[in-house]
Amino acid sequence: MTTPTQGAFITSAASTGREGEPAMYLRRAFSLAERPVRATLRLTALGVVEARVNGAVVGDEVLAPGWTSYRHRLVVSEHDVTDDLVVGENVLGAIVGEGWALGRLGWENKRNHYAERPALFAELVLDFGGRTEVIASDGSFRAGTGGIRDNGIYDGETFDARLEPSGWDAAGFDDSAWGDVETVEWPLEALIDSPAEPIRRVEELAPVAVMTTPSGKTVVDFGQNLSGRVRFTVTAEEGAVITLRHAEVMVAGEIDMETVRTAKATDRFISAGGTDTWEPRFTFHGFRYVEVEGWPGELDPAAIRAVVTHSDMTRIGWLETSDPLLNQLHSNAVWSMRDNFVGVPTDCPQRDERLGWTGDINAFAPTAAFLYDVRGVLGSWLRDLALEQKAMGFVPWVVPDVLSTPSSPTALWSDVAVSLPWALYREYGDTGILAQAYESMTTFIRQVAGLLDDDGLWSTGFQYGDWLDPDAPDDNPAGGKTDRHLVASAYLCKTTREMAETARILGRDQDAAEFGALAAHVRAAFRREYVTEKGRVAGETVTGYSLAITFGILDDDQRAHAGDLLARLVAKAGYRISTGFAGTPLVTDALSSTGHLDEAYLLLLETGCPSFLYPVTMGATTIWERWDSVRPDGTINPSGMTSLNHYALGAVVDWMHRTIGGLTAIEPGYRRVRIAPLVGGGLTSASLRHTIAAGDVEVSWKREAQSMTLTATVPEGVTAEIALPLHPDAEMHEVGGGTHSWTYGVPVATGGSYDLDSTLKEIADDAAAWRAFFDAFSTHFPGVPLDGTAPEAAFMTVNTMLEYVPGASDELRGDLAAALARVSEGASS
Ligand code: BGC
Repeated sequence: MTTPTQGAFITSAASTGREGEPAMYLRRAFSLAERPVRATLRLTALGVVEARVNGAVVGDEVLAPGWTSYRHRLVVSEHDVTDDLVVGENVLGAIVGEGWALGRLGWENKRNHYAERPALFAELVLDFGGRTEVIASDGSFRAGTGGIRDNGIYDGETFDARLEPSGWDAAGFDDSAWGDVETVEWPLEALIDSPAEPIRRVEELAPVAVMTTPSGKTVVDFGQNLSGRVRFTVTAEEGAVITLRHAEVMVAGEIDMETVRTAKATDRFISAGGTDTWEPRFTFHGFRYVEVEGWPGELDPAAIRAVVTHSDMTRIGWLETSDPLLNQLHSNAVWSMRDNFVGVPTDCPQRDERLGWTGDINAFAPTAAFLYDVRGVLGSWLRDLALEQKAMGFVPWVVPDVLSTPSSPTALWSDVAVSLPWALYREYGDTGILAQAYESMTTFIRQVAGLLDDDGLWSTGFQYGDWLDPDAPDDNPAGGKTDRHLVASAYLCKTTREMAETARILGRDQDAAEFGALAAHVRAAFRREYVTEKGRVAGETVTGYSLAITFGILDDDQRAHAGDLLARLVAKAGYRISTGFAGTPLVTDALSSTGHLDEAYLLLLETGCPSFLYPVTMGATTIWERWDSVRPDGTINPSGMTSLNHYALGAVVDWMHRTIGGLTAIEPGYRRVRIAPLVGGGLTSASLRHTIAAGDVEVSWKREAQSMTLTATVPEGVTAEIALPLHPDAEMHEVGGGTHSWTYGVPVATGGSYDLDSTLKEIADDAAAWRAFFDAFSTHFPGVPLDGTAPEAAFMTVNTMLEYVPGASDELRGDLAAALARVSEGASS
């Protein structure tokens, strides 16, 4: 801390810290003979706190001090309150709710993870110019209660306006009926200055509809799944109760609370009579819909707002394309990120969980770091991770750790200790991030090195595997198609390489040699166990191939062959997605980097269930936890893990930035960049903007019938390699700062022309044609496989094939001919 601490943690002598207790109100009156030159309030709490000075709310933070590993690091925020003080009597007040320190956290229904009782820490530092006085939280405070009858992050807040003591936070209030305070022990060395942007009210949304449901309930639709709460203004009679229930989704015309599990997500306001504006203070919900009960008369949409609440980070990345569905997918990823950065990076903002799940942020980190400046929030979270890892001897699966069972090292989850600092370094180019995390990174890698079997594989212990593979059984999300230990060893190939690079960058030569050797050892073991000489990957799954291709495990020849096999698998699945958390961030890269851009686009643009765009077609405004959290018939997947707001599967947006937007960093921090959009998927334009240290990079391209325009704006001091998309001579340029534009002719697309006399192979060699053909076939024979790559496909025409299909109707024949005619036309237009 910058200033020595004088305050203590204080609590009401009457507080118990048990569930359902009213929030604690604290006040201290003091007299000033003169106004200070400067007055600074330093504030934190065990619980969540809102401070007042002379009746005014201090600052614009909400849910302060946010959530950190409190015993190691408890954030103290500083507020300038100079203008709020007067000569004469002044009052410093604070309300403390239960928040993360006391409230229940996790699905295990456990509470009081950090503290038995709520407590306030405050220091009002009064600088009189040459002399300083401090009004600090101590035994001179008085304690009472007020309108907040109960409050909890998961369950919501109840405010009874009749019980709010009028003027309690200003001079002249008689607090003689209030009680004493007591000191609570807490390590003052844990207090730290704010390391990240605080949680704030970032935006307000007006309702898009107010509806009456079939059962007669009033439901407000804010049009967007968000994290935050509702603020309303109401005129009501004394004792009127207004109840708000928050939900992500409506099923059969009514709000559905299944996705919030046991979280009550319910706020209540009890009127003292008259007109009030109210918003809960000590809770937040993940919701799009609010069911309002008890509203007097008709609910005027102007009376109610959704207040979007999250860590107030700076936006630095944007992408827009000519495809509205892709734009919605991008928007969904942005919103899921916003909704899940409420202090710590969480899995979801709505249910009885909202924990700092390591695997989720590991999958999404490159996307997050591009969209927002996350150095504050994720830098702080990594400090917590390192401290808890040191104290516990393992990287917890959730940080801060509130699970009752100890975690064990797992790929994609625990190895966030290595891959997150690495991702942040790649994005922001700051070696300080690596240096800060170095001990945590090396400890993790050495721990896993000690677990390898004699062959050098990570073949034992619990693994999450390709979590939520759509083919995993509903009750076993870790039981996907791809062998869990294959996933683990593949991720270890990646993290050992990142570790070796990190050591090299930091000049730790001996470590670099150690980790380099380990990386080579694990890679060789993986290849022996899982890869054939030609490049076939054991298990033959999309995730398995994606890992082997993108993690540099294969040689060049093997890589090309594996890419072909992967493309075949993806086509065979009808471009439905078949990956979970481990494979999804990689599959489009694995395809586009092995010459299968068309297949990557087909996968991205597929809308059937499960696919990237299926949720978008179902009206999703955020990324879902499961590919089919809502099933095609509109019902919620009954597995109990069906959040509509989990960012992990939105990691494909990183590929969209690099491939559709076309911007990649050649050097960490974008000192040198590559601008090379890969045009496909029928897109006709895209524009990307990214704020980097040197300024804004902008890329936009537009494809017209016979020409292409690329415009790139590069900040001074940055060098850009430009590869002109679809240029007939594959022209490249190297440019510096400024705006550069190229317009050039492109060959008219000359895709093939197909009919029923084409061979299956001819059609299969053109991904778009095969897809149209296969789709038409599948409407007649759902689930029946067709293999355009089998040896006989080279000579078997569609007409010949139809002779072998029992029950091939004229209608099927007609549909196949029409589908082939459509692609042939599309290709020549
Ligand atoms: C969370 C996930 C998390 C997983 C791992 C779930 O309940 O919501 O996103 O990574 O558990 O066990």
